Amino acid sequence: MNNTKFTSFTNKPVELNEKSLIMAIESSCDETACAIVKGGREVVANIVASQVKVHEKYGGVFPEIAAREHLEAINVVIAEAYKQAGVKGSDIDAFAATVGPGLVGCLLVGLNAAKTLALVNDKPFIGVNHLNAHLCANYLDTDLKPPFLALLISGGHTQIIDVKSYSEQTILGETIDDAVGEAYDKVARLIGLPYPGGPKLDKMAHEGNPKAFILPQAKVDGYNFSFSGLKTAMLKLVKSFDGQELPTADLCASFQECVSKTLYKKLKKALEERGYNQVVLAGGVAANSEIRRKVFSLEEEGYKVFAPPMKYCTDNAAMVASCAYFNTNTYDDINVEVFSRVDK
Ligand code: KG4
Ligand code: ZN
Repeated sequence: MNNTKFTSFTNKPVELNEKSLIMAIESSCDETACAIVKGGREVVANIVASQVKVHEKYGGVFPEIAAREHLEAINVVIAEAYKQAGVKGSDIDAFAATVGPGLVGCLLVGLNAAKTLALVNDKPFIGVNHLNAHLCANYLDTDLKPPFLALLISGGHTQIIDVKSYSEQTILGETIDDAVGEAYDKVARLIGLPYPGGPKLDKMAHEGNPKAFILPQAKVDGYNFSFSGLKTAMLKLVKSFDGQELPTADLCASFQECVSKTLYKKLKKALEERGYNQVVLAGGVAANSEIRRKVFSLEEEGYKVFAPPMKYCTDNAAMVASCAYFNTNTYDDINVEVFSRVDK
C-alpha cells in the first residue's frame, strides 16, 4: 500500500511496499533500540537495551552518561536485530532513526549509525520524529488505519491529536505546563519512590485507596491540560504529614485517580465533539494500568480502542520503523540534523 519513493545516497530510487524491510534505530533518551519491521506492521526483530540500571543511582537520566551508554550498546543491538530477523544489511530496503525531540548527544549516536548503514548498503535514510513514532506504535501487529483520535502521553508531551491520515495530523490540545509523565516522575520522587518513578507509582497505586485524598482537577480551556497545580497540591499534602510516615500507597492511588480522570474526561469530550469512533493511546505513559483501564472502558460505549502492548509503549525502534514506512511526517533528507525540542 505504501508506494512512497525514497532515494539512496547514490540517488537510486527505492519504492516501499508491503514486503519492504525497514531497520530503525531509537536512541533519543535512555534506551538503545534497533528493530526490523516488514511493511510497517510486522515486527521481525525488536531489540532494546535499557539504561535504567545506570541512571538509577542519579534518580534520573544523566545526558552525557546516556550518550556514552548508547555508543557502547549501538553495535550490539544492530547485530542482535540482524540475528533475530535472520537477514543482512543488503536485505534491508531503508534505514531509519529518530532525529528528535530528545537528548542531542544521544540522538547523534543513532542517527549516525543509521546514516552509515544506509550509505554502506546504498539504501535510503529516513529521519523520524519521536512523537509520531509513538503514535505509529499502534500500527504494529494491528490493522488500524486513520482517521482516529489519539491521546499521546509521554515523559515530555501530553497531546490530543486529530489524526486525519498517515501524514496529516492536528494537535487539538496539549499541556500548558508539565507533561503527564513528568508529573508522575516528579510526584514519585516527592514521595520517595526510586527512579523510574512513573511505573513504580502505578504499581504502588494498586495497594492504596483512590478516594483517600481529593485532589484538584485543573480546569483548562478546550482540549488543553495542566498538571502543575496537582503537583503543588501533592507537595502541600506531603508537607502536611510533617515528617510522619507517609501513606504512600494512598497518595499514589489518589494521584493516579486524579490524573486518569482528567485525561479520560478531556479525551471523551474530544471524541464526542469531533465524532470519531476510533481512539488510540500512545507514549510511555500509555503503559499506565489505570489510564488504560479507563480509556478501554470506552469500548463499552461503542468506540474502537487501540493501545500498544507494553513493549511498544515505552521507547523502542519498531515504532520508528513503522513511522518511517507510513511516511508519517518523516525527513527524507540525508542532511537532516538532530533536534532537542518540538520546534521543527
Ligand atoms: O514515551 P517515553 O518512554 O519517553 C518519552 O518519549 O518521553 O515515556 C517515559 C515516561 C516516563 O515519564 C515514565 O515515568 C512514564 O513514561 N511511564 C509511566 C508508566 N510507564 C512509563 N507513567 C505512569 N505509569 C506507568 N506505568
Ligand atoms: Zn518516548
